[in-house]
Amino acid sequence: MCGIVGYVGERQGLGLALEALRRMEYRGYDSSGIAVNDGTIDVVKKAGKLANLEEILDPAALPGTTAIGHTRWATHGRPTDANAHPHVSFDGRVAIVHNGIIENFAPLRQELLDAGVTLHSDTDSEVASHLLARAYNEGETAGDFRASALAVLGRLEGAFTLLFTHADHPDQIIAARRSTPLIVGVGEGEMFLGSDVAAFIEYTRNAVELDQDNVVVITRDGYEVLNFDGSPAEGRPFTIDWDLAAAEKGGFDSFMMKEIHEQPAAVRDTLGGHFHDGRVFLDESRISEQDLKSVNQVFVVACGSAYHSGLLAKYAIEHWVRVPVQIEVASEFRYRDPVLDERTLVLAISQSGETADTLEAVRHARAQGAKVLAVCNTNGSQIPRESDAVLYTHAGPEIGVASTKAFLAQVAANYIVGLALAQAKGTKYPDEIAEIWQSLEEIPTRIEELLDVRGQVAGIAAELGAVQTMLFLGRGVGFPVALEGALKLKELAYIHAEGFPAGELKHGPIALIEEDLPVVVVVPSPRGVKLLHSKIVSNIQEIRARGARTIVIAEEGDEAVREFANYLIEIPATSSIMQPLLATVPLQFLAADIARQCGNEDIDKPRNLAKSVTVE
Ligand code: M6R
Repeated sequence: MCGIVGYVGERQGLGLALEALRRMEYRGYDSSGIAVNDGTIDVVKKAGKLANLEEILDPAALPGTTAIGHTRWATHGRPTDANAHPHVSFDGRVAIVHNGIIENFAPLRQELLDAGVTLHSDTDSEVASHLLARAYNEGETAGDFRASALAVLGRLEGAFTLLFTHADHPDQIIAARRSTPLIVGVGEGEMFLGSDVAAFIEYTRNAVELDQDNVVVITRDGYEVLNFDGSPAEGRPFTIDWDLAAAEKGGFDSFMMKEIHEQPAAVRDTLGGHFHDGRVFLDESRISEQDLKSVNQVFVVACGSAYHSGLLAKYAIEHWVRVPVQIEVASEFRYRDPVLDERTLVLAISQSGETADTLEAVRHARAQGAKVLAVCNTNGSQIPRESDAVLYTHAGPEIGVASTKAFLAQVAANYIVGLALAQAKGTKYPDEIAEIWQSLEEIPTRIEELLDVRGQVAGIAAELGAVQTMLFLGRGVGFPVALEGALKLKELAYIHAEGFPAGELKHGPIALIEEDLPVVVVVPSPRGVKLLHSKIVSNIQEIRARGARTIVIAEEGDEAVREFANYLIEIPATSSIMQPLLATVPLQFLAADIARQCGNEDIDKPRNLAKSVTVE
C-alpha cells in the first residue's frame, strides 16, 4: 500500500519521480505528490489519481535532481490535498513520504502541538517531518541529518517505510523500513529508492534488498546500510529479471486485459523446471524431501484471490496426499490459536509477498514450530524471506489491482506442492504423478484456446445490461472458482456479487433468486464425478424455474446443460482438478466487461483498493 520513490542523481528529479509513480500507481491512488530538493524544498501534491497531479505540474519550474514521491492509499485521514504526501516540516526544511502506519502518532502529535507546532493534515505520517526538523534544529543531534533521522526512527512504533530529505543536504536521502517494503536501485552516478523495482526498472537492473529495521543513506555515488542504532548493516544485492515491457500495457487497453492474456505464459513459466526424469522438484524451495515426508497436516493462509487459490490447494492435497488441509483467511489465523507443531506445513500464498495479514500469519506459524512454505510472485519480498522455503510463481509483474495471472500461477504452484507432497509421502505412484503433471502441462495451451471466448463474453455482458446483483455457484473445485468470479465482479464493477457452493442454495440463498437475476454456474466435467455433475444440473433447473438468467460455464460437449443455459460458455475439456485453471478465465473477462458497462473504465485501479495490502 502506497508507492514510494526516491532519487539522487543527474536527471531531473520531478520527471523521474512522476514516471516512477506512474508505474507504482497500482499501490494506491488516493493522492500523489513529489518533493524536489535543490537546497530548498518544493512540494506539489494533489488528491485523486496521478493524472490530477500531472495537470497542476509545471515540470520546467523544478529542475532539481533530488526528489521523493508518493502515491497514497489512505489509512489515517481522507484523501485530500492536505493529507497527500510529501509532508513538510514547520520550518520548510524537511520533506518526508511514508508508507505504513505510525501507531504512536497520537502522543507524538500531542507533543508537537504542546511545543507550538501547527499540523496541517490528519495523517499519522506528518509527525515524522516535524520530529526530524526539531531533532535537526536543536539538542544533541543538531545539524546532523543522519543522527537526527536515527533519533526520530527510534521513537516511532508501527510499520513504516520513510524517506527523509533535508534542504541542507540536497545530495542525499535517508530512508528506513520496518515491516513495509523498500528496495534500493543502484545506477551509475545515480541511486534510487522504491517500494518495488517498478520505480526504477527503466534505469537499472541492480537492486539491493534491505532487512527489517534497516536505514539506508543514498547519494549519487552509492548507498550505505545501517541498523536503527547506527551500526553498519548489509543489504543483499540482486539482479532484477523482470523486463520493462512486462511493466507496460503492450498494446492492450488495460494492464488487466494484458495480464489475462499472459496467463498461458504465467502458468507455463511457473511449471517450468519442476518435473523431469519422472519426478517433481521443488528445487527453488529449500525444503527437503524428509521435511515433506514428515508432514501430517497442512494449513493454508492467504487473502483474497490467493485464498481462493488456497481452497484449490486443499482439494488437491487432500485428494492426492490424504493429509488433512485446513485453510484460513490470513487475517483470522493467529487470533484463534490454531494447533500447529513441527509436522505442520503452512502454505502461505501471496502474489506481492508483502500482505501484512499473511506475513503475520507466517510469523505466528513459525513461532509455533511449523514449517512455512511461501508461494510468492515477488522476488526478495518479505513473506518468502521470513518463510522456511519458497516456491516462486513466475507470472511476472502484475499491475492490475484485480489479480488474474497471479491467481492462475498460484493454483499451478499449489498443485506442484501437492504433487511434491504426494511423491514424498508415496501416496501416488510415479506414473500417476506423471499423468497428473501431463494434464497440468497441457493447461497453458488450453488457456490460449480459451482466450477467444472474449468476444462471446462481451456479447453476454452487453445483453445482461445494467446488473445490480449477481450470484456465482459451483460445486467441488468449481466453488473456489465461483468465489473468485464474485470477487472479480465486486472489485471491478462495484456491484453486489456472492459465490456459493451450489448445494448450499436451498439452505437460504435461493431466496435471493428473482426474475432475470443473472446467476453464473460453474459446471464440473461430466467425465468427472458423475453425481456431482447431475446434482449441479438439477441446481441449474431449480434456479431457472425461479426466473434466474443462467450463465453456464461447462466443458465443451456437455450437452446436458445446454437446454438450461440462457448463455453457455464452453471451455476446453480437462481433468476435474485442472478445470479451475480454465473456468476462471471467462469470469475475469465478464467482470471487466460488466465493470465497463457500469461506467468503471479504469479497471486497473478499482476504487478504495491497492495492490499490496501492507497494513493489517
Ligand atoms: O499480494 P497478495 O496475493 O498477498 O494479495 C492478496 C489479496 O489482497 C489479493 O489477492 C486481492 O484480493 C486482489 N485484489 C484480488 O483480485
